Amino acid sequence: MIGIFDSGMGGLTVLKAIREEMPSIDVLYFGDTRNAPYGSKTREEISKLTIQAIQILRARGARSIVSACNSVSASMTVSLFDTFALTSDYLIEMVGPTVSYFRESSARILLCATPATITSAMYQDGFEMIGKDMQAFAIPDLASALEFGASEETLENLIRDSLTDISLHDFDILILACTHYPLIAHLFEKVLNEASGTQLHVFDPALAVAERTKKHLWPREMGDGQTTFLLSKDSEPFRKHAAKLFPQNTSTVEVLKTI
Ligand code: DGL
Repeated sequence: MIGIFDSGMGGLTVLKAIREEMPSIDVLYFGDTRNAPYGSKTREEISKLTIQAIQILRARGARSIVSACNSVSASMTVSLFDTFALTSDYLIEMVGPTVSYFRESSARILLCATPATITSAMYQDGFEMIGKDMQAFAIPDLASALEFGASEETLENLIRDSLTDISLHDFDILILACTHYPLIAHLFEKVLNEASGTQLHVFDPALAVAERTKKHLWPREMGDGQTTFLLSKDSEPFRKHAAKLFPQNTSTVEVLKTI
């Protein structure tokens, strides 16, 4: 069984891509809805929540972990892996696989994410390491608006406002480097289509992360295709998105009483 975690519903986009690659894998998904959003928290706060999430998943028997949250990648230091005896064959995160995906690409890259991810400079450093220029910007309230069930109009306006100072013609790809954002890829596409003349394509890193997950965890983590969702606080928007993304799946939702 693999453990996947995020602040809430964002990791569902990664789970979906993983399910497409490995339909029979058993998944324990922890959505930390009580502490969402992560993207506006300090690195210290996120570190504590990351450790707690991994502990919850491991205590329930998840041997391998997929961090489906870009905002926590900066808190996942090598010493943290070691403390949990998590080698790279047992722990997959978002930033490494996403940057590696573009190693051979000549696309001009624009990337959006939460403030925590942008401030950590993980992506900026990663792209520099493979010798690629890029531009990154934060969309401060978008993940939390989505998590707490804001209207499409509100979400669309947040996206539009965040793009006002960016010269969109200078880029080919917009990387959605917050796992919440692909849930509203259609709104990103709509706003980009309004900006005349841009050829900007939206990219969901979940594909790259699912491929990496398969490479490292398959077939070691083969199972029956079960999904268990653990939430630290019940959430109607979470349940709604999970049911929409996985209509056929046998899954259960458990709300943790204390964590
Ligand atoms: N989905 C997460 C990410 O990829 C966290 C968003 C949030 O909680 O702010 O960064």
